[in-house]
Amino acid sequence: MNLKALPNLFLLLVIAPVFVTSLNPSLNDDVLGLIMFKADIKDPKGKLVSWDEVDDNPCSWVGVRCNPRFNRVTELNLYDFSLSGRIGRGLVQLQFLRKLSLAKNNLTGSISPNIARIENLRAIDLSENNLYGEVPGNFFRQCGSLREISLAKNKFSGEIPASLSSCSTLASVNFSSNQFSGTLPPWIWSLSGLRLLDLSDNLLDGEIPKGIEGLKILRAINLGKNGLSGQVPDGIGSCLLLRSIDFGENSLSGRLPENMQKLSLCSYLNLRGNSFAGEVPKWIGEMKSLETLDLSLNRFSGQVPSSIGNLHSLKILNFSGNGFTGNLPESMNNYINLSALDFSQNSLTGDLPLWIFKLATQKVMPSEDKLTGSRNSPLYTLKVNAIQNLQFLDLSDNAFSGEITSVVGVLSSLQFLNLSKNSLCGPIPGTIGELRTLRNLDLSENQLNGSIPLEIGGAISLMELRLEKNFLVGKIPTSIGNCSSLSTLHISENRLNGPIPAAMAKLTNLQIVDLSFNNLTGNLPKQLANLPNLRSFNISHNNLQGELPAGGFFNTISPFLVSGNPSLCGSVVNKSCPRVLPKPIVLNPNSSSDSNPSYLAPNFGHRKSILSISALIAIGAAVVIVIGVIAITVLNLRVRSTTSRSPAALTLSAGDDFSHSSTTDANSGKLVMFSGEPEFSTGTHALLNKDCELGRGGFGVVYRTDLQDGRSVAIKKLTVSSLVKSQEDFEREVRKLGKVRHQNLVALEGYYWTPSLQLLIYEYVSGGSLYKHLHEGSCGNLLSWNERFNVIFGTAKSLAHLHQLNIIHYNIKSSNVLIDISGEPKVGDFGLARLLPMLDRYVLSSKIQSALGYMAPEFACKTVKITEKCDVYAFGVLVLEVVTGKKPVEYMEDDVVVLCDMVRGALEEGRVDECVDGRLLGKFPVEEAIPVMKLGLICTSRVPSNRPDMGEVVNIMELVRCPSDGQEELG
Ligand SMILES: *[C@@H]1O[C@H](CO)[C@@H](O)[C@H](O)[C@H]1NC(C)=O
Ligand SMILES: *[C@@H]1O[C@H](CO)[C@@H](O)[C@H](O)[C@H]1NC(C)=O
Ligand SMILES: *[C@@H]1O[C@H](CO)[C@@H](O)[C@H](O)[C@H]1NC(C)=O
Repeated sequence: MNLKALPNLFLLLVIAPVFVTSLNPSLNDDVLGLIMFKADIKDPKGKLVSWDEVDDNPCSWVGVRCNPRFNRVTELNLYDFSLSGRIGRGLVQLQFLRKLSLAKNNLTGSISPNIARIENLRAIDLSENNLYGEVPGNFFRQCGSLREISLAKNKFSGEIPASLSSCSTLASVNFSSNQFSGTLPPWIWSLSGLRLLDLSDNLLDGEIPKGIEGLKILRAINLGKNGLSGQVPDGIGSCLLLRSIDFGENSLSGRLPENMQKLSLCSYLNLRGNSFAGEVPKWIGEMKSLETLDLSLNRFSGQVPSSIGNLHSLKILNFSGNGFTGNLPESMNNYINLSALDFSQNSLTGDLPLWIFKLATQKVMPSEDKLTGSRNSPLYTLKVNAIQNLQFLDLSDNAFSGEITSVVGVLSSLQFLNLSKNSLCGPIPGTIGELRTLRNLDLSENQLNGSIPLEIGGAISLMELRLEKNFLVGKIPTSIGNCSSLSTLHISENRLNGPIPAAMAKLTNLQIVDLSFNNLTGNLPKQLANLPNLRSFNISHNNLQGELPAGGFFNTISPFLVSGNPSLCGSVVNKSCPRVLPKPIVLNPNSSSDSNPSYLAPNFGHRKSILSISALIAIGAAVVIVIGVIAITVLNLRVRSTTSRSPAALTLSAGDDFSHSSTTDANSGKLVMFSGEPEFSTGTHALLNKDCELGRGGFGVVYRTDLQDGRSVAIKKLTVSSLVKSQEDFEREVRKLGKVRHQNLVALEGYYWTPSLQLLIYEYVSGGSLYKHLHEGSCGNLLSWNERFNVIFGTAKSLAHLHQLNIIHYNIKSSNVLIDISGEPKVGDFGLARLLPMLDRYVLSSKIQSALGYMAPEFACKTVKITEKCDVYAFGVLVLEVVTGKKPVEYMEDDVVVLCDMVRGALEEGRVDECVDGRLLGKFPVEEAIPVMKLGLICTSRVPSNRPDMGEVVNIMELVRCPSDGQEELG
């Protein structure tokens, strides 16, 4: 004490204690302490500039508060001051400090007992720093009045200091997010004043010790994210004031203690990520205050107890990733506050309960279960008013089948819709375009068919669109250019065709695009090079052509992203581009999105054709001319080359006893006639005489030629040679087909084989095809009703015969039904699919079943096995074609008419007799024609099992012939 201070001290003692504060001998201790503290740390943002030693009143310094009566520093709050460095000894000087917060800084180093005078402190908050090391064992030895301590979010390690047990006044301990290890000490339960205990996110292990019931006023306990094991102690049910329990992400096991049901104030219960097992107890319904219940990622099993429906306050319910089975309890439809529901990754079964859409729920995640859709569809009967709030719907990886209902359009708040990995069929409803807030749409890995709806452009908020691995056909709609936020577009592995729309270049947010494994054609729009954010653009395995766009992403595009496009050119694909590229002509009426995809399924035939009929004709004519020119050129070349080498190459042999050519010509082929027929009279060059062309089909061109004995044969040159099996397999299959004989089948009489050319030699049927008779015949040789009936009957018998031999025809259509002189039908081209290396339905539908209108709907749906019922379908179409005289699909002025739909409609309206070919007017027996037509309709049922088999068809036809016996069966 200096001399100047002496008189003051004198006055202080003598005069009055009232003046103590003004004299304040210890204030300098506070200044000294704070200045010392400041000297030890770094203050990069200059937050502590007001701390100036010249100013001897620190009570006005920032972060400092004093007791107004004594003028001593009682509170230091430097929360979020960006301070770094170590905490020095300065704070020890602050004898009256009650509250210390240095939270959310960058302070480092360990803490020592003389960090502050603990015995006076009420609250210490050192959370969110970089403090580390063990907390000294005696740190809390003198914590006479400490009520709150937080060391959360540092790097403290070692055991929880035992001296903490002497802080009997503690109400709040938060040591979360450190590296405290060891077991949870039993004395922790003796801190009977605790209201909050947070030891989460440390390295604690062992069991939770008994005795928790000592914490009578505990409000919140968080032991989550440790390595605790064993059971939840029974006593927890005695902590009646508990509101929040978090034991998540430990290794706790066993069952939940029954007396937890007494915790009626508890609003938060998190048991996520443990090993709790058994059924969820019924008493869970007693915890009526629960707002969050997270049981996810445990081993709970059995049914979800229906008492869970009593938890009326629930906002978040998550029981994903358990072994729950059975249905969801109906009682759950009582939730009025639920905003998120996740029951994904269980083994729940049954229909998706519709009540989940009645909730005010914003987030529903029943993915990866085994749920099935109610009726046909997961979204079949949505209640319009109740689901406006739904934002998040994840039904992925379930067993939903059927079509996506167009009602999906009412989910007006939807932001996330995931229906991927189900078995959904049918088209994508256009109403998807009404979801204007939708950001993520994932319909991938289903069996969706039809085209991408034009309306997709209405979903203007889309950021991610995934449609890959479906059976989508048609063009990528130009309207996609409206989805301006789109950044991820996956539509690979479909059957899309047509060009990549230039409108895609408008989507400046595009980052990842995958169009691979489709059948896209045309040039790549040059403007795509301007897309600034593009990171991947996969167009591999399409039919794109021309030059890649130059610039931007395309300068560095990896070759594998463009591979499998034979007509692309440029340096990336190592192929120079021709100077002038021919303009591509693209016409694929089978799969254009704009024209009618009705051949896939008779029910979708109501969309209008967008191309006008005149445009179709014009394009069609152009294509015919081009194809014609090419075909003639190719044929000429072929004929020339065949004539120049074939005579020497051909040798003939009789029956099965054939021998190889006696010549050594490398091109030598092998001709086998099953019946040992004589040589061709006209010489082999006539085998492929274009003047004798009879027709062409999916498998090849057919020519007529004459044998030496004057008999004619039809020769089919297979154009699918790349698809044909090895010689051995080919011969075996052909021999098998050669043995098939029936009066209504065109007989296969022999074959010719070289590796590059395969010919099938057929019986020649002179009367022309049914197609010609029906659609090209002049008035003179119009088929009578009787002839038509015979054709249908004969065709039915031939198919029944084939099916008996387990041969599926795959290619029934009127141009494959020939009519001989006596009017008897003969079905050709049967079983040719067997010559393919494998029965690929894609090849079947695109190469062979190319005839519009005859293809059974199951060709479009991968899960349905293709059986002989596909022939029944095509037969049904043929029946209707024969009776009505109309083609299976006809293009009218501005419409497309699908025959089955038309007849079905007429049947429903009771005017089916009007459908009979007008040219037969008055010349057909109604009592035969109508049952036959009904038979045709039954055969074209969408569901294969609803179609009769061909044996039954033959029987029915027999009954129809004698109308008195058989009609009611068809009614
Ligand atoms: C802490 O320090 C690190 C680098 O030492 C710095 O990046 C970070 O921004 C600092 N944090 C605060 C809250 O000042
Ligand atoms: C513990 O402290 C951390 C960091 O400040 C905080 O995030 C957490 O909510 C606290 N725990 C409790 C139960 O309040
Ligand atoms: C791809 O399209 C072209 C013409 O657009 C067509 O000729 C071809 O058959 C199609 N390929 C497949 C595999 O569908």
